[in-house]
Amino acid sequence: MNKIRNIGVLTSGGDAPGMNAVIRAVVRTGYYYQYNVLGIYRGYEGMINGEIEKINPRDVSGILQDGGTILKTARSTRFLDIEQKKRAYEICRVFGIDAVVVIGGDGSYRGALDFSKVGMPVICIPGTIDNDIGSTEYTIGYDTALNTVMDSIDKVRDTAYSHERCTVIEVMGRDSGYIAVNDGIAGGADVILIPEADFDIDADVIKPILECRNRGKKDYCVIVAEGVGKATQICDEITRKTGIISRATILGYVQRGGSPTAYDRIMASRMGAKAVELINEGKLNRVVSLINNKVTDLDLEEALSMTKSINLEMLKLAKIISI
Ligand code: F6P
Repeated sequence: MNKIRNIGVLTSGGDAPGMNAVIRAVVRTGYYYQYNVLGIYRGYEGMINGEIEKINPRDVSGILQDGGTILKTARSTRFLDIEQKKRAYEICRVFGIDAVVVIGGDGSYRGALDFSKVGMPVICIPGTIDNDIGSTEYTIGYDTALNTVMDSIDKVRDTAYSHERCTVIEVMGRDSGYIAVNDGIAGGADVILIPEADFDIDADVIKPILECRNRGKKDYCVIVAEGVGKATQICDEITRKTGIISRATILGYVQRGGSPTAYDRIMASRMGAKAVELINEGKLNRVVSLINNKVTDLDLEEALSMTKSINLEMLKLAKIISI
């Protein structure tokens, strides 16, 4: 028989639009299945500190459309220590927590796996703008970030067009290029640089820009994933080697903020509900994943060993259609 009565929920790592929608879905699906849901503030850090309180279904009204996370978030280094994990476990037990839903990226997943090994059942939900979790086709927050970045590229390009310059835009993604590739296509970039594909500055950046110029183009757009290096350096190289006036823009944290798109709200609602359904079915230490466009679940340890790869054909496509 399922002995779980009280579910803890936390957000961890970088905030992502849609995290609130997940919290709402967890709390309300929990209510539907007659579980108490307790919010754990500031991720694993707050868990160690006992920053925990009950969340009622009405407490999460009006947050579906809000960016950030009402539970706050943190990257806890203390939680890496086994003694702190044991302490966090004891604190959870004091609050009566029988299982924890963790919303975050792969670092948060690793924390969850370690936490399950000290005895706390966990369920993980992918929440990061980077879309870089190997076990799922989609991470909550990615679509909103894509749209935010696309809007920003459009705006920066207005200036590049008017001044006939080259714009070099640095986007987030940590070690992955999902935002860069897809926003490069959505924003009509001439060159996209991502960590997954080696590049040569002369062959892959300078040459295509000069070819564009020879075809009559007067403004240019280069998207640089942060995992590749600094946009300012690429920008200086372009100016030096082509004579084209270039400017770098680092989009930064604007990419993590804002109201979630419809897609993120829907995915967050489905994945949040799925996490509670798994607990209700007694399926523990699982991750919620989108696979073949279906919301499903996998074993947490297995999920952490999975990788996924970017479709590099997208880089070729960008080149073909940006002339
Ligand atoms: O994982 C989300 C992300 O925004 C990455 O794209 C970026 O590299 C990182 O977080 C920045 O982290 P922090 O908020 O700790 O500066």
